[in-house]
Amino acid sequence: MMEDFSIEALRRVVGERGVITDEADLAPFCTDWRGMFKGRARCAVLPRCTAEVAAVVRLCAAAGVPIVPHGGNTGLSGGATPDASGEQVILSLSRMSAIRSLDVIGETMEVEAGCILQVAQEAAADAGLLLPITLAAEGSARIGGILSTNAGGTNVLRYGMARGRVLGLEVVTADGTIVSGLRQLRKDNAGYDWKQLFIGTEGTLGIVTAAVLQLAPKSRHRVTALLAVPSADDALAVLRLARQAIGETLNAFELMAGPALELVARHVGLTTPLAPAPWYVLLEASSSLPSLRDAVEEMLADVLERGAASDGVIAESEKQERELWHLRESITEAEARAGRSIKHDVSVPIALIPAFLRVADEAVMKAFPQARINAFGHAGDGNIHYNVIIPPDADSQVLNRLVHDLVVAHGGSISAEHGIGQYRVDELHRCRSAPELELARRIKLALDPAGLMNPGKVLPQTIVTR
Ligand code: MLT
Ligand code: ZN
Repeated sequence: MMEDFSIEALRRVVGERGVITDEADLAPFCTDWRGMFKGRARCAVLPRCTAEVAAVVRLCAAAGVPIVPHGGNTGLSGGATPDASGEQVILSLSRMSAIRSLDVIGETMEVEAGCILQVAQEAAADAGLLLPITLAAEGSARIGGILSTNAGGTNVLRYGMARGRVLGLEVVTADGTIVSGLRQLRKDNAGYDWKQLFIGTEGTLGIVTAAVLQLAPKSRHRVTALLAVPSADDALAVLRLARQAIGETLNAFELMAGPALELVARHVGLTTPLAPAPWYVLLEASSSLPSLRDAVEEMLADVLERGAASDGVIAESEKQERELWHLRESITEAEARAGRSIKHDVSVPIALIPAFLRVADEAVMKAFPQARINAFGHAGDGNIHYNVIIPPDADSQVLNRLVHDLVVAHGGSISAEHGIGQYRVDELHRCRSAPELELARRIKLALDPAGLMNPGKVLPQTIVTR
């Protein structure tokens, strides 16, 4: 039997200040940082510890009230925004932000879900270590959201996706049980690796409350370079040469189309220190060996001699490094200021990036002659942000389908790193096979039979109710 839902009962669990009901205070929880997704909620609840998260989940489960977990709110797919019903409860992890422990010998860190990524990065750096998850939103993104979305970012080439950093996980399941697997083990093949069910599933199976993260040694030397390249094919030639010459040191290999940096110049006021070019590559390498810079210089000389790049600059100071990265990391902001942009966070096999870009450009410009294509991304791992700025009245669904069909035809994925959220639910269903979707449905029903965990995200709610 369903119990009555009561704000008072929530307040008894999380304290008076832990429940937000005032409309103005609730507003920031009901939209994402870009203002692209909007919803309504009964309230936002801010537990202070895992036991309180579990108690809140149990209260909601007893009353049949859906929960939307909320982290830094910097996702790009609407995964943390409630629906329009006003029935959902937002569960913010922001008051659970402790770094519980850091082990310099094992190079691990136990951290709560509400900890901001940059805070965790700084704690690792203070201990002479590296937390190698790097993304533009690191000043606001929280660990729980990063793990729930299996975030990517600019260092995936060397360090892998967020999933690869997780040694142990603590979650609260849909019935309010705390499951703790906060082990620090690099090797642990004892039974099902259940934590993988909660990483990247965007809170639809349970709530991540804490994690043990694998840190890495901090390199003593770093080299950052920006290259101008004539084509995307040339960019891949540079990637191949770099992998051969300095492969294991390569942290990032970012591709940016000329128009992407033109947007940055126009809307953010940052200029590129190289002459205008069709494409640019930003690469970063790091190593503790002092010979790194010589090796990078030699590799770049080779690249220029072969004509794979037409020009290049190596940062001479940390300030210049930051300036080069600032160009790259300002593309999203510039794009947001440029008009209505439709994001396609896609990946294809790396070797097929140029072919995909060629056919996609042709098809998009044919169907939407007024479109401006803003292509950039993490080419070293196959992830291209194939974003398109279109007039307000253009049909975004037609555009999505066109781009995603080409992605699938190239053996790619319609979400490389941003997740499905509420933005790509229909497209996921169009683009994934029936057996894969059925497997997802069975997992969802097994772990959240009432469909109360972040309903309508990743999977359509009808799979629970049908
Ligand atoms: C980035 O890599 O800057 C973002 O993930 C891309 C985006 O905003 O589309
Ligand atoms: Zn990205």
